Amino acid sequence: RNAPLDAEQVERLGLPARLVRTALVEGAQSPSPTMNVATAELMHGLNSLAAAHPVERGSGPGRAIRLDCPESRADGDAAFTIRTVDGDIRIGGNSDLACLYGAYALLRELSLGTDPDTLDIDSAPAMPLRLLNHWDNPDGHVERGYAGRSIFDWWHLPERLDQRMIDYARANASVGINGAVVNNVNARAFMLEPRYIEKLARLADAWRPYGIRVYLSARFSAPTEIDGGDIGRLETADPLDPQVRAWWQAKADEIYAAIPDFGGFLVKANSEGQPGPQDYGRTHADGANMLAQAIGDRGTVIWRAFVYSAQDETDRAKQAYEEFVPLDGAFADNVIVQVKNGAIDFQPREPFHPMFGAMPQTRLMLEVQITKEYLGFASHLAFLAPMWREVLDADTGRGGSVAEVVAPAGMAGVANTGSDRNWSGSDFDQANWYAFGRLAWDPALSSDTIAREWLAQTFNREEAFLAQTAPMMLSSRETVARYMTPLGLAHLMATGHHYGPAPWVCDLDRPEWNPCYYHRADSDGIGFDRTATGSNALGQYAPAIADTWSDPATMDEHYLLWFHHLDWDYRTQSGLPLWDELVQRYDQGVTEVDTMVHTWDDLSAYVDPERHRAVAENLRIQQREANWWRDASIAYWQSLNGLPLPQGARAPS
Ligand code: GCU
Repeated sequence: RNAPLDAEQVERLGLPARLVRTALVEGAQSPSPTMNVATAELMHGLNSLAAAHPVERGSGPGRAIRLDCPESRADGDAAFTIRTVDGDIRIGGNSDLACLYGAYALLRELSLGTDPDTLDIDSAPAMPLRLLNHWDNPDGHVERGYAGRSIFDWWHLPERLDQRMIDYARANASVGINGAVVNNVNARAFMLEPRYIEKLARLADAWRPYGIRVYLSARFSAPTEIDGGDIGRLETADPLDPQVRAWWQAKADEIYAAIPDFGGFLVKANSEGQPGPQDYGRTHADGANMLAQAIGDRGTVIWRAFVYSAQDETDRAKQAYEEFVPLDGAFADNVIVQVKNGAIDFQPREPFHPMFGAMPQTRLMLEVQITKEYLGFASHLAFLAPMWREVLDADTGRGGSVAEVVAPAGMAGVANTGSDRNWSGSDFDQANWYAFGRLAWDPALSSDTIAREWLAQTFNREEAFLAQTAPMMLSSRETVARYMTPLGLAHLMATGHHYGPAPWVCDLDRPEWNPCYYHRADSDGIGFDRTATGSNALGQYAPAIADTWSDPATMDEHYLLWFHHLDWDYRTQSGLPLWDELVQRYDQGVTEVDTMVHTWDDLSAYVDPERHRAVAENLRIQQREANWWRDASIAYWQSLNGLPLPQGARAPS
């Protein structure tokens, strides 16, 4: 629900307006469900923006808002236009889904205060797939979820459809998201059983008018764990075994019989203990192509590249590239390989994954994490658009940016939704869901634009408010990176849950689960040597890009200790010794959180008391914990290097 426009804006809007829909296409019996949704959303949204001026349907006086789209299936061309001609606002496009997206875009523009007489918008999604990945388990627990329980009520489906499922579809469609993988990548095989397909079909029916397709995470060993119709249960899940292929073919047919527009399977294979084709001496391509054949041209197999094994102790960051790049060209046309933004795991900052650009014959999709597993869960404020932009904008050195590389496939965001009243665990975390959809639609949008859009629609559209809060959002992720993992450090979070600092942990069985594996600090220095003298992960990047990171004296210091192991007294680009520079960055991060707390405290006039207080309370948690991160990290480094706090450093809290 949007805050009402002021009197002058309502006047300009020319309400009461008339909502006019194009006539039905020839032969159609009734308006399509998608057009009905578009109409209902416009009525609802305009009435909310101009509370005392109801919008009417059909002819009469006042401005007309025309929806000029053929009433087709909801999976058509999503591109839309919005123009004001002779006072009338016309939303046009080649499918009813285009009109739905246009309706949401019109509401967004009006709620930002755009003059309705100047509307002249052409918009089309940059990528075909804009998907949420839910790490939701069927028992209601969400892996890495910080917003309560799962929103999917499998227990009561298919009979009972929670209204939340409709609101979820509306929220997604309003930002351009067009698909959802509803279960965790660490998948349970029974989600493929008929009883779950029936539940999934109910969701698919409910979401279809909103242009949202359902996908399932598929457990690779499912043929050995559950019956496959007439075929029953098998002894093997070997992708080259004819019986296994028949099992998956039958399973795919069964799903498509219930859900004709089923999106496809997402697969995590041979990673973190999950089963996969390598269990049978086969490759990722063998596994993916077997599923791709079962699905055929009805959908997509999305195969994750997040793989690492306990055996390789040299550098976890290199494994995905080593396993996948030799398979370039071997994947079927309806396979997409989904690659995390960086080569480790959703850290506050990572250089872009070296696979981007390195597999020109394979469609690659970008996976980012909306839920903030390594950025302070839902209690720390970190607006992630700048982080995602950093990846999207990165030049791969192999003929395009990451955004260009993934454009033929899409973007996946690990969802941050849950049963909390605010959906996302905190009010500001809604902005990350919003930003994900907006960037997947248009990766050229600036973080500032997205922050302002969200703030204006969520809290208040007054410039005095936006001028304070947008900059706070824009710098928030950098602030978190400073007090948690400055200068390119990574994975120093407490093990298991990943909340709070634990750089000292070094006794876990799997070497790459220990924070000490990543910082490699001792009495002499700190950092992971990924140059030719070390793991040479740097060598996986295009030479032109590797060059920019090879010299600590000239490189972007945000990645300094990611690529280099340096002495504590190494002179950084500021002229300060590394130790002093590191402490200074921790201090800066803490000071910036202090500023965020004060900025927000001063904005109570612009936000309702309930949400103002909720945000303020979270910021106080963040303030305490930024100090915790800074103090604990510095104390630990001092236990190794024996150095005093540099002059002028903050005192421990
Ligand atoms: C991280 C996360 C796991 C998750 C995994 C994945 O390691 O901690 O919970 O399963 O990523 O992306 O598969």
